[in-house]
Formats: sequence, structure tokens, C-alpha cells
Amino acid sequence: MKDMQPPHLEQSRVQKSFRRGLESYHGAASVQAETAAHLARMLQDQGAPRHFGRVLEFGCGTGHFTRQLLQRFSAGSLVLNDLVPEAAQVMQALEGDTQAKTRFKGGPIESLPLPQDLDLIASASTVQWIPDLPALMARLAAHLTPGGWLALSGFGRGQFRELAAMGSAAAAPSYLDADEWPSVLPEGLEIRQIAQRPAVLEFASALHLLRHLRQTGVNGNARQGWSRRQLRSFEDAYRERFGQGGKLPLTYDPVLLVARRTG
Ligand SMILES: C[S@@+](CC[C@H](N)C(=O)[O-])C[C@H]1O[C@@H](n2cnc3c(N)ncnc32)[C@H](O)[C@@H]1O
Repeated sequence: MKDMQPPHLEQSRVQKSFRRGLESYHGAASVQAETAAHLARMLQDQGAPRHFGRVLEFGCGTGHFTRQLLQRFSAGSLVLNDLVPEAAQVMQALEGDTQAKTRFKGGPIESLPLPQDLDLIASASTVQWIPDLPALMARLAAHLTPGGWLALSGFGRGQFRELAAMGSAAAAPSYLDADEWPSVLPEGLEIRQIAQRPAVLEFASALHLLRHLRQTGVNGNARQGWSRRQLRSFEDAYRERFGQGGKLPLTYDPVLLVARRTG
């Protein structure tokens, strides 16, 4: 799948795609919702404290992970970030006292000025969009307090394997399997738990499948605008290669990790 990656990621296209999908994302992104719940549980199971002083969540989107975190943990202060400025709406769903402690900052996490001494850095289903992950991870680690926690999820190389096999350019730039993460994290970040949990969704037709991609904004690098003929030949080829019981499967490949800064 690596050879399918675009030479450079057009962040504005990713932004446009997520902005357009923002309204429909929350309900349509079932795998991301499940992943957010699982990741929050993982953090708790690893013995994270019930209260964190300073928390940063990047790529918050419509707040699937924000809500899961706030059900289990409290925060002295919370910075929420997303590439898409309209994601600031997520603030409206927070309770009054949490809202008072929360600030939203829009823009790419790669260049966002970060607070010092963070106790938790959290992010679900976002790091696959970061072209230079080692650089971001090194910067994040430098802003974690010693003993601070990192709870992240992205996607592995099996993500949308059917689309990749069909020659689609919908791939995000940084799909990483669980066994690749140790070499991406800088020294001083210790992985406490990592899990890869593929999940397959099924669609009645190519139109339903493409609509799902559009609603969830996950096809930020995909070409837009299909003719009826193109759609039909895509569906026929997809069915022939992957069709099961009349349905079209689509593989998601979430990778979840909890790490801690040592020393
Ligand atoms: C699949 S959504 C995940 C949203 C939410 N965390 C969840 O679990 O449902 C990915 C989010 O990452 C955001 N994003 C993509 N690239 C980003 C970047 N470089 N910096 C900050 N956010 C980014 C997108 O705008 C989108 O809202």
C-alpha cells in the first residue's frame, strides 16, 4: 500500500473532506466510535489516574474520544484541537464546568504551539493523516511531563485493503501496523499496551460504500466525481474480487496504543 501513497499530502483536501463530512461523521463513523470507547478503556485498564492535570486531544473531530475520556477521567485543563476549525462545535456538548476549563485550537497539530508539561496527550483515529509521524511523536513526547500518558489510535496497513487492491488513492499517508509503532516512538516513551483490531463493514452496493466514505470524510485523498459507467464497473470488479453473500466488505484496521513517558 505504501506505493499508493500520494507524493505529498494535500492537507487542504483532507480538511475539505472532513469539513464536508462533519455533520454526517458522528453517526456514520461506527468503527471510530467503537475504537474511541476501547482506547479510553485501555487507558483506564493500564492504571491511568482518574484525574489528569493538563490534557491535549488532537484531531478531536465531533468528539467521540473526548466524550469517552470525560466519562472516565477528569481534567484540570483541556486543549482540544482539530485541523477543521468548525470542529470547535464539540465544545457545545461539554458540561458547564468542563467547558470552562476547555479551549479549542484549530489547525494542523504538527505546527500548533503546545502547552508544556502535559499529563495526557490523546488522539483517536487521526495519526494516519500525519505524513511525518516520528517528528510529531518526538515533539509530543517533549511536551509530556515525566510519567505523562499518551493514548493514541491510528490504522494499520490492512486499512481499506479492498480499495487499495482496486487501485484507489484513498489511502492516508501513515498506515502503521502494531509492530511498527516501537520504531516510531522516541526514546523515553514506553508502550504499555498496543492492540490491532481489524473490523469488516458490509455494504449493499458500491454507492452505499462510497457514501459511507464520503460521510465519514475518510477519503480525503480520493478522486471525486464518478460517472455512472465508472461506478458500475467499479462495483462489478469489487463484487468479483471481494463480494460475499451479495455484500461488499470494507476492512478497517484500527491500531490502539497506550504509552507513558519514563523518567
Ligand atoms: C477520523 S476523524 C477522528 C475524529 C475523532 N477523534 C474520533 O475518534 O471520532 C480524524 C480527524 O482528524 C482531523 N485531522 C486530520 N489531520 C489533522 C492534523 N494534521 N491536525 C489536526 N487534526 C487533523 C480531521 O479533521 C478529523 O476531524
